[in-house]
Amino acid sequence: MFSAFVTLALVATNVYGTQHLDRNLAYRSPFSNDPQASHNTKNIQARHIQHARRQTVDAGSFTDEHYPTFYGGDFSNSPFVRNGGINFTHSGLQCTGDPFDTSVLLWTRALPISEGPTPDESVPVCVAFKISRSPTLSGRIIDSGEAFTTFDVDFTVKVEATGLEPDTKYFFQFSDCTNPKTASPIGTTRTLPSPNTPAHLVNGGKSLTLAVFSCSRYQNGFFNAYGVAAHNTTADLFIHLGDYVRGPSVVDHPSLPQSRFAAIGRMVLGRETATIHDYRLRLNQYRTDVSLVDAHVAGPWITDDHEVSDQAWKAGTADSNDTAIGCSFSPSGACFTDRKLAAVRAYHEWMPIRQVDPNNQLRIWRNFQIGKLVDLTMLDTRQYNRDITDLYYNTVINSLADEKNRSLMGADQEQWLFKTLTESKKRGAIWRIIGQQIVFTQLNFGGFFNVDSWDGYRANRNRILDHLVGGHIDNAVILSGDSHGNWVSDLAHPNDTTRYNPITGAGAVGVEFAGTAVTSTSTFGADTNQSTAEGLSRQLVQANPDLQWSEGFFRGFYTLTVDVHQIKADFFAMRNITIPNLEAFVSASFVVENGANKLKRPVAGGKINAGALKSSVAPREE
Ligand SMILES: *[C@@H]1O[C@H](CO)[C@@H](O)[C@H](O)[C@H]1NC(C)=O
Ligand SMILES: *[C@@H]1O[C@H](CO)[C@@H](O)[C@H](O)[C@H]1NC(C)=O
Ligand SMILES: *[C@@H]1O[C@H](CO)[C@@H](O)[C@H](O)[C@H]1NC(C)=O
Ligand SMILES: *[C@@H]1O[C@H](CO)[C@@H](O)[C@H](O)[C@H]1NC(C)=O
Ligand SMILES: *[C@@H]1O[C@H](CO)[C@@H](O)[C@H](O)[C@H]1NC(C)=O
Ligand SMILES: *[C@@H]1O[C@H](CO)[C@@H](O)[C@H](O)[C@H]1NC(C)=O
Ligand SMILES: *[C@@H]1O[C@H](CO)[C@@H](O)[C@H](O)[C@H]1NC(C)=O
Repeated sequence: MFSAFVTLALVATNVYGTQHLDRNLAYRSPFSNDPQASHNTKNIQARHIQHARRQTVDAGSFTDEHYPTFYGGDFSNSPFVRNGGINFTHSGLQCTGDPFDTSVLLWTRALPISEGPTPDESVPVCVAFKISRSPTLSGRIIDSGEAFTTFDVDFTVKVEATGLEPDTKYFFQFSDCTNPKTASPIGTTRTLPSPNTPAHLVNGGKSLTLAVFSCSRYQNGFFNAYGVAAHNTTADLFIHLGDYVRGPSVVDHPSLPQSRFAAIGRMVLGRETATIHDYRLRLNQYRTDVSLVDAHVAGPWITDDHEVSDQAWKAGTADSNDTAIGCSFSPSGACFTDRKLAAVRAYHEWMPIRQVDPNNQLRIWRNFQIGKLVDLTMLDTRQYNRDITDLYYNTVINSLADEKNRSLMGADQEQWLFKTLTESKKRGAIWRIIGQQIVFTQLNFGGFFNVDSWDGYRANRNRILDHLVGGHIDNAVILSGDSHGNWVSDLAHPNDTTRYNPITGAGAVGVEFAGTAVTSTSTFGADTNQSTAEGLSRQLVQANPDLQWSEGFFRGFYTLTVDVHQIKADFFAMRNITIPNLEAFVSASFVVENGANKLKRPVAGGKINAGALKSSVAPREE
């Protein structure tokens, strides 16, 4: 008996190798080609083998409360995996992301059920997945497989489902390999059309809807915006432009407990995010919001930003940074570099995002060719290679805003963006949608500029505008978040009212849709009422030539409905985020016609339900 067990164990080892670990992309987090920063699955596999070898000694009198199910387990399925049960946490939370034409990432978390205080951490959990076009998964299974997860990656599972048909809706499910009856709920996702699909055939000939979000803050409100997008729109893709989670930092450090506990009774767990544990805890907690769960099973997500902390740039945040003499410590006691690595690692574990380039460590900037209808180009204007930003104390940034060599993206990302835009035009894609974090258009707040947005990197902004003009690149649409307010603008060189006419839009080179926050506090102040907010909006649309609509009172999101002829943007305002609900209204809608490179006049059809339109306020006296 004894030797038979050894033989079984070794045979099984040869069969398994590391492929079950390697199938889980979370082990590549954050950098697959960096031995310091990704997991060595051979070592993890060896750890399991050693543990299994422990089973080859007589366990008759051995008791170990940490492994309550191990010795009694039935290992006939797999000698090395845990079969003590899996908890697909958060009612089977799962999500999908970064769809291509024949593949998509599927994600879940499979926590081992534990009778004791600590889950069994020494043997892997084996999770099976399958994907099919049939809503009950009873039809043909297109792809299926098994993958391991362990505590090393917080029991997250991220697999790529391949061999799929382009532009197709799919259904998928995870289950426990050792007990298929334990299964997650069935989720939905889809693939993109292949790059050469004619524009009018994309999405089966129906217009394609993108729902766009930014800035969720758990303690500020319920994430109703996600729920409205999932339940009340036909969103095909969910785009998040940053601040999917927020680590409290200077402004709501635990030394200020009341700010973490809003009147709505939602409090963030843990401290200011600094270690991998902190970032995992934060992501985990945000994912308990019902509306977010609903939006994650409604379709694939394309996300942006690695969510390090407030006012992040390449070597620091508002309250921590690297310096020539070593690191400086944030209030939570972490060195910035470690903090950034921890944030990026947790992000790649928890988010259904692809690792774009194993040799380019922080790269998440990437392009999605959605048939010949759209190129969706996602940038990283936060962590990748951004020169120093406004950190609240370093007011000198105001005087650096015009420096020619200041970069927001880093030279390689900037060159890649230009190449991608040029190629997009060359391949005949109709629309070029650029998703990025921060407001692009100049916003003059009475002589004050937010230098944490593109207003702090003016030469870099001009290079992009020059590339659009010089390359005759039309139909560019910039998407932005970060600001906690709505700003809709024609794209033009700042202060240039010679080539650009703010009334007719003539001379504009594209448009920008900058959306408000899911829950983060209004840019006009938390206690500002609607009439005061609209007064401020009226002043701003009057003072800023390119800005056509401003709205700063409501929290929400927007959708873009894209077809060959036009893009329609609908801005959704949430009625009340202090309780979970799906009540919302459209505060304004805008149309951009193919080839026009400006907002269609009259802007918003001349009719809005909140905020202020430039066309309805008297022009400013010069
Ligand atoms: C599963 O996980 C959820 C969320 O963490 C928890 O509330 C629940 O008690 C767990 N169930 C079991 C059986 O461990
Ligand atoms: C960041 O570094 C600078 C020196 O470059 C230092 O003056 C500043 O105090 C640091 N800030 C924080 C929050 O550590
Ligand atoms: C940018 O140029 C200024 C002088 O105009 C110089 O002081 C600074 O070091 C340069 N920065 C970089 C990152 O090259
Ligand atoms: C635009 O004009 C305003 C007001 O004169 C000025 O403060 C700002 O610096 C100008 N912007 C640029 C990019 O030159
Ligand atoms: C809005 O707030 C302003 C400033 O606090 C106040 O003067 C005004 O009366 C308020 N308006 C309404 C409708 O409550
Ligand atoms: C939001 O709902 C809460 C709870 O029902 C209510 O107390 C509050 O007045 C509502 N706020 C608004 C702006 O309607
Ligand atoms: C969304 O749908 C729900 C019903 O599922 C409805 O109660 C709610 O009013 C709708 N919200 C909007 C903004 O249409």
